[in-house]
Amino acid sequence: MKDNVALITGASSGIGEAVARELVRRGAKVVLCARRTDLLEKVAAELRAAGGSAIAVACDVTKDGDPEAAVARAVAEYGRLDTVLANAGFAIAGRIEALTLDDYRRQFETNVFGTIRTLQAALPELKKTKGRIGVVGSVNGFVGTPATSAYCASKFAVRGLCDAIRHELKASGVSVTHIAPGFVASEIRIKDNQETVHRHAKDATPPWLVASAESAAREIVNALSRRKREQIVTFHGKVFVFLERHFSWLVAQLAGVVDADRRSDRKRAARHGRVG
Ligand SMILES: NC(=O)c1ccc[n+]([C@@H]2O[C@H](COP(=O)([O-])OP(=O)(O)OC[C@H]3O[C@@H](n4cnc5c(N)ncnc54)[C@H](OP(=O)(O)O)[C@@H]3O)[C@@H](O)[C@H]2O)c1
Repeated sequence: MKDNVALITGASSGIGEAVARELVRRGAKVVLCARRTDLLEKVAAELRAAGGSAIAVACDVTKDGDPEAAVARAVAEYGRLDTVLANAGFAIAGRIEALTLDDYRRQFETNVFGTIRTLQAALPELKKTKGRIGVVGSVNGFVGTPATSAYCASKFAVRGLCDAIRHELKASGVSVTHIAPGFVASEIRIKDNQETVHRHAKDATPPWLVASAESAAREIVNALSRRKREQIVTFHGKVFVFLERHFSWLVAQLAGVVDADRRSDRKRAARHGRVG
């Protein structure tokens, strides 16, 4: 990825930030996009201080025009765009009866339409460089789990998006990598449905099941650089997807057990039903 110019949405924390650091370590120039520009500026300054090339650009993927402006800024600064990682996302938790239609709309506006906005903005430049698209979905794009229907639906949607546009873009030389992480250390499980971060909240996911953002980033950058069709990230993520593909009855039974267990504690179920 040396000298690649890469734009990453959701680079102010978690997986996006770690991917930005990994890309710079491998010689890429990065354009960091998110809404919290103070965090972005801090990461960009650190990367520059270490000798890398990085700029921070305010970009809300739910706003028409923001991703276009970010792409324009990337090209103005570095002259080209080789890679885009549509990573910005969050998770709305709760059972279907507890959620409003607006909850589902907000989930889709960021995770699905935000991804589409980002890709549509980047495509004209990516076609010039026969570039790379990465879309961060989730293991929940393969496996539905209780109390996560909004999130799961959004992640199934981006998996379908990737599978369709991969064919469309083949002739142009632009590759599409669908990335499906399992549990990775980030802010996602300490944010509530309104995206407020609860710094002192405890992540109920067993720590041994949570991969570091750094190791996830290495897997993601390897997959992008090899133009892989799909990358399931984390060992347990690979196991879940394998089981879903070949023993879906077993996964359904497990989900039933988890649901029965968690129905007794709705709050916990609402926060921690995801598998990635
Ligand atoms: N960590 C996991 O266990 C896990 C598992 C499977 C999939 N994923 C996926 O990985 C991706 C990254 O999440 P993460 O785990 O790294 O969580 P995170 O630490 O909460 O990071 C989410 C990033 O998305 C950005 N974002 C959210 N809404 C945005 C918007 N409207 N416009 C621009 N940026 C926005 C946030 O930045 P601002 O708030 O500053 O805008 C932040 O940088 C998500 O798509 C998530 O669904 C994560």
